[in-house]
Amino acid sequence: MVEVTKTPEWKSLSADAEALASTNMRTLFADDPDRFERYSLEAAGLFLDFSKNKISEDAFDHLIALANAVDLEGTRSRMFAGEPINTTENRAVLHTALRDFSLRDYHVDGENVSPKIRTELKRIAAFAQSIHSGAAKGYSGKTLDTVVNIGIGGSDLGPQMVVEALRPYWLDGRRSFFVSNVDGQQLADTLAQINLETTLFVIASKTFTTQETMTNAESARKWFLDRGGKDVAKHFVALSTNRHAVEAFGIDPENMFQFWDWVGGRYSLWSAIGLSIALQVGFANFENLLKGAHLMDEHFRSASLRRNMPVLLALVGVWNRNFLGASAHAVLPYDQHLHRLPAYLQQADMESNGKRIGKDGAVLENKTGPIIFGEPGTNGQHAFYQLLHQGTDLISADFIAPAISHSELGDHHPKLLSNFLAQTEALMRGKADQEVRDELRADGLTKPEITALAPHKAFPGDRPSNSILMGKLTPETLGALIALYEHKIFCQGVIWGINSFDQWGVELGKVLAKSILPELSNLSEEKPSATSHDASTNGLIDRINDLRQR
Ligand code: F6P
Repeated sequence: MVEVTKTPEWKSLSADAEALASTNMRTLFADDPDRFERYSLEAAGLFLDFSKNKISEDAFDHLIALANAVDLEGTRSRMFAGEPINTTENRAVLHTALRDFSLRDYHVDGENVSPKIRTELKRIAAFAQSIHSGAAKGYSGKTLDTVVNIGIGGSDLGPQMVVEALRPYWLDGRRSFFVSNVDGQQLADTLAQINLETTLFVIASKTFTTQETMTNAESARKWFLDRGGKDVAKHFVALSTNRHAVEAFGIDPENMFQFWDWVGGRYSLWSAIGLSIALQVGFANFENLLKGAHLMDEHFRSASLRRNMPVLLALVGVWNRNFLGASAHAVLPYDQHLHRLPAYLQQADMESNGKRIGKDGAVLENKTGPIIFGEPGTNGQHAFYQLLHQGTDLISADFIAPAISHSELGDHHPKLLSNFLAQTEALMRGKADQEVRDELRADGLTKPEITALAPHKAFPGDRPSNSILMGKLTPETLGALIALYEHKIFCQGVIWGINSFDQWGVELGKVLAKSILPELSNLSEEKPSATSHDASTNGLIDRINDLRQR
């Protein structure tokens, strides 16, 4: 494995960052009239402008060289070839095969998996059709107009984010609910809003062993039966890789839509996990989502590194994270329907690249994934942007917006877009001390007043951002957007030398929760004092049990 921090390219990039310390982005723009053209590109229906990053031509060249030094293109080829690049689980990473409409064949361990992908997609289409046409009915003969998707992590965030994003494409009269938390309040609140006769429960779990999902699924089935529901098979379907566990739960394999272990949980919305999407927006729109992602895949696998959108987004992220010291990255969609995108990308990015061990098993010298957070604009502007503009940490950001809204209501959308543009400009330009002083003087403030106030009103600027535009948020452009991020995450993982496709960091908490569960009172019983943990955990268990007894 190439130790990335030891490469000459890494050293050159460190020198580039030092060389840029004495200048600012305003100057970079002033010195180069072609900066916008040079650092922007279009692909798969998306437009990316990354010129508002503090990057020089030298740094750009060295980033491309760095990608070559770690053999990014070679690893990309190995991923598309179905090689087991998820080394700790010895698995291929082939979510792209699920949306490949070019009729290419994909092989895993010598098996051509493309026919079974197509078969499963056809089953999903047929099932969605039977629900939408009313041919499939509930136990009492009513059509099924409501879906409750029970899943967590990738089995929840992906379909939920897409269903929300595609609200203008919802089929008339259909409703979807997403239940993920083992906190029973979420399930109870959902059940209170639905009619069991017209509801389809979609149990989405790659492993079909996840505590939250199995608990919610059991409780949903009990609720259904307790209220006189019959014919569970008509109301419960499973989306999983684990046929055995699905059968053990009592769901007929006929009602199971499957996917495979080479589809990572956080990359699974393109698989059977997308069933809830197809049910809410129609199969044709689900297919268009896949087609949009495929367009981005084709661009990613064929464009040169210098004109490759996911590669460039990844490299700029590496630049900000490793050479300029950005600790966090904000995802800021200026589209209310994308309100779950930051949450979705938190899992996609942080579960993939939140690693401290390299592929060779050694502790890494370099920083890896940043903290991902975000909110739709303009709401975020009135919450955390203060810190983006004037805080002590450097935070990079992606601003995402459609040029045309699905609701062109009065001048709402131009107002939204003007805020988008204003924020990226403000972050880049900042406001110099002298500008602030001149303004305050013009406002008639005295010299001491100006001296006191000016530092608070100045903005350092030089805060990096990318702008991602699309004509309209459609199934196609959304598919491309998600694929853009998936490939960005992949590229960063390759550069940082990590396996982006495992998630061992979620295991310890799961194991400890299992051991703590029997120590907690279920309200009706008294429990002995806890002794087997540290003093804090023991004390908290006792306090909780005490509160639950009162
Ligand atoms: O949080 C860990 C994780 O394994 C995720 O990677 C996954 O998306 C989620 O749990 C749900 O897993 P499953 O689909 O197997 O229920």
